[in-house]
Amino acid sequence: MARLGLVILLVALLGAAAVAAQAPGSSSPRLRFGFYKRSCPNAEYIIREAVRNATSVNPGLGAGLIRMAFHDCFVRGCDASVLLDPTTANPRPEKLGPPNFPSLRGFDVVDAAKAALEKACPGVVSCADIVQFAARDAAFFLSGYRVNYKLPAGRFDGRVSIDNETLTFLPPPFFNLTQLVNSFKAKGLSVDDLVVLSGSHTIGRSHCSSFTTIATLPPNTDPRLATILKGQCPANPNITNDPTVVQDVVTSDKLDNQYYKNVLNHKVLFPSDAALMTSRVTTRKVVENAVIRGSWERKFARAMVKMSLIEIKTAANGEIRKSCQVVN
Ligand code: HEM
Ligand SMILES: *[C@@H]1O[C@H](CO)[C@@H](O)[C@H](O)[C@H]1NC(C)=O
Ligand SMILES: *[C@@H]1O[C@H](CO)[C@@H](O)[C@H](O)[C@H]1NC(C)=O
Ligand SMILES: *[C@@H]1O[C@H](CO)[C@@H](O)[C@H](O)[C@H]1NC(C)=O
Ligand SMILES: *[C@@H]1O[C@H](CO)[C@@H](O)[C@H](O)[C@H]1NC(C)=O
Repeated sequence: MARLGLVILLVALLGAAAVAAQAPGSSSPRLRFGFYKRSCPNAEYIIREAVRNATSVNPGLGAGLIRMAFHDCFVRGCDASVLLDPTTANPRPEKLGPPNFPSLRGFDVVDAAKAALEKACPGVVSCADIVQFAARDAAFFLSGYRVNYKLPAGRFDGRVSIDNETLTFLPPPFFNLTQLVNSFKAKGLSVDDLVVLSGSHTIGRSHCSSFTTIATLPPNTDPRLATILKGQCPANPNITNDPTVVQDVVTSDKLDNQYYKNVLNHKVLFPSDAALMTSRVTTRKVVENAVIRGSWERKFARAMVKMSLIEIKTAANGEIRKSCQVVN
């Protein structure tokens, strides 16, 4: 118990430190902890309930929510642009970009949270904040409460969403280390953030196409894993026949540091995962995350907060959407 308290204290302190620093993208406004304390006192509680409801039935939705936070932030900043549906005026939003469609999931959880929030306090809580809180809460539940961090809020929702920007900014699974580092650097994130956030691949699933068509399994993949995957996937997956497999073959629904052990054991699906072992600096970080208990969870919380600050919009270039699927 004392140890849990210490961990929580550390996470809180580190979260605060991450926010005291300026957000990535120099003109970003400051966000605040407890942002909805007065305007919508139950906001964080309502979002957590929606995520609890969903992940207790299907933990995979929690994985989807954590991935959604990443895919939102890397394309036009953390502004809920990933949630916008196609319209006649904008038939190709981010949601339909190849990295998002059809694999991204968790949209219904965000909508459930938004519906409950609009009842409690109409027009107050942004969809951009919901996405980041939902990812935070998914991490909380899937880690068995070990990843537990405070998140500053006050993000505004964007009005622009373009499918091909997903290909420009979201790194594909065939990227090498240099390319991965550069795509994170473009969003103000460091090599350490890359290594730490890649640990998200300790939960959730992948479609067969992601490691047979879009990319191939890393060269020295454990032959036993390769055989298992061959049994689970068609030789040539296509849109109508593209099954999914778990990303972490050891603890599939647990947000833990098993990912790093899998990287060391060549039991990962993507070249981008295996790429973390192609430099001495990143290999050392992989080993540290694999062997030091509690270390990754602490760093993950800090990196998620940092990611949530990318290119934040303000009242000047954003809005508080009434429905997360459409601009006001
Ligand atoms: C470093 C570069 C990254 C690459 C190349 C990458 C690539 C991928 C790919 C190809 C999938 C499988 C999608 C599918 O076929 O269904 C996936 C799943 C996933 N990714 Fe990443 N990813 C990266 C970083 C991240 C980051 C930074 C996060 C979160 C902070 C993240 C969270 C997830 C999660 C949770 C899933 C499972 C989603 C689900 O089960 O629905 N990834 N990623
Ligand atoms: C969560 O589930 C409970 C029980 O079914 C329900 O009353 C509540 O409205 C749900 N909360 C949200 C935010 O979806
Ligand atoms: C991306 O999409 C926009 C709007 O649909 C279009 O104007 C632009 O030419 C596209 N860019 C590329 C590189 O395909
Ligand atoms: C990574 O990929 C880029 C682009 O294909 C290539 O120029 C570079 O040499 C590669 N780097 C390494 C270390 O393989
Ligand atoms: C997809 O693959 C299956 C067999 O794996 C095949 O029966 C089906 O016709 C293919 N569909 C398309 C759209 O190519």
